[in-house]
Amino acid sequence: MKTHTFLLGLAFFGALLLAPGMVQAQELHLDPAKVMGPDACGECHKASVEAWKGSHHFSTFKSLPRKKEARAIADKMGLKRIKAGSECLSCHFTSAMVKGKAKPIAGIACESCHGAGRDWIKVHSDFGGKGVKAENEAAAHKADRFKKSKQAGMIRPGNIYQVAKNCFGCHSVPNEKLVNVGGHAAGSKIELVAWSQGEVRHNVWYSKENKVSPIERLRMIYLVGRALDLEFALRGVAKATKKADYAVKMAKRAKKARKRIKAIAKLVDAPELMAMYKAARSVKLKLNNEAKLTAAADAIARHAQILASKYDGSTFGGLDSILPGPDKFKGK
Ligand code: HEC
Ligand code: HEC
Ligand code: HEC
Ligand code: HEC
Repeated sequence: MKTHTFLLGLAFFGALLLAPGMVQAQELHLDPAKVMGPDACGECHKASVEAWKGSHHFSTFKSLPRKKEARAIADKMGLKRIKAGSECLSCHFTSAMVKGKAKPIAGIACESCHGAGRDWIKVHSDFGGKGVKAENEAAAHKADRFKKSKQAGMIRPGNIYQVAKNCFGCHSVPNEKLVNVGGHAAGSKIELVAWSQGEVRHNVWYSKENKVSPIERLRMIYLVGRALDLEFALRGVAKATKKADYAVKMAKRAKKARKRIKAIAKLVDAPELMAMYKAARSVKLKLNNEAKLTAAADAIARHAQILASKYDGSTFGGLDSILPGPDKFKGK
């Protein structure tokens, strides 16, 4: 069975047994036993759910199985059903346990980006007992709450690297068979500012207006997105076994991403960027080079996490001329 490289660090569940007679091994993005579904989040985050309903992440649940293009891919892959036991589940759907069986219950939903909620919904929203409001929460309690939520699998938006890693785990399409045999698109032209500030945007909790993130934050989103693109392209090339569409396009993606990081490194004062470029430059983009490519990707991941936690974007004005503006935002 093929293993995807993506979402390392998140829980991974292989060899899931499906209905009798359909014993097909597959991997899901999240542990279905821990997925609560978007309705559970909606009990408190109604406005986020409303925003999400306007996105392709929501609509793919119903629209994908009806599409000719999807059927064509599934046929080439020898898959009978798109919504059951197929490789489509890991990226297009969220699965949860329904009457003892893992079933797709939604498209790409809250937990696809913020982590499966079972073990953290309670902790992340408890300011210190009944009746205690956010403004009265003790500082130590807050620190403890964040720590416990994280330990229980919550991916908080403050940690842009961890959240955005999910985007690239799906959007780089790290699945050789899906691309070579199925003819699936070989990865999105995702750029994190444009792709997160359009239809995906739901800044509706701390203020109601769903504003575009502040410029300092956009700069950080941009940098982390470019770093992740490079990291995941290298992970993608590492998995390539045949000289065909997948390997060629993934290597192209890596080259482009590498060039971009080098150019960006000249615009801002952050040595981590040049270190990422050097790590990428040190490996050959070729087949059967998995260990070295993975090591380079791991190094880039470390630099990217340092970058994301060390800076707040306030000194990175050098990026403003290349940041995508609202006319480039994807959707809405
Ligand atoms: C019982 C009500 C409740 C439920 C259910 C709930 N949340 Fe929350 N959520 C909150 C509260 C309260 C906060 C504010 C916490 C704070 O200010 O630190 C919050 C904050 C958040 C944040 C922002 C945290 C941060 O660090 O900035 C995210 C992301 C989030 N919730 C996601 C979810 C997801 C995903 C689900 C479903 C799996 C969910 N929540 C279910 C009440 C809830
Ligand atoms: C590794 C993640 C991944 C897997 C697995 C995957 N897809 Fe996709 N798929 C994507 C992404 C990301 C896009 C969006 C591409 C874009 O718009 O840039 C997409 C887009 C599509 C589209 C075009 C968008 C649309 O709705 O018209 C079709 C059709 C499609 N996928 C079918 C499938 C089918 C069928 C399967 C299972 C055999 C599958 N995909 C498995 C990630 C994946
Ligand atoms: C495609 C990935 C993705 C999905 C799906 C998603 N989120 Fe988020 N969420 C993010 C990102 C990224 C941010 C930070 C955005 C920023 O800073 O511009 C965020 C921010 C948040 C925040 C903080 C908002 C604020 O006002 O600052 C909350 C609360 C939240 N998400 C809850 C949810 C809930 C509930 C759902 C499901 C209805 C959901 N998210 C679906 C990626 C996602
Ligand atoms: C679990 C896999 C997964 C994750 C995680 C994910 N996406 Fe997606 N995304 C998809 C798929 C699949 C589609 C295509 C859905 C369709 O149209 O059928 C898509 C579509 C989109 C689109 C619409 C593209 C278009 O052609 O209009 C945007 C924008 C987008 N994603 C941004 C993001 C961002 C930003 C993140 C992270 C914060 C993210 N996605 C996380 C799988 C994912």
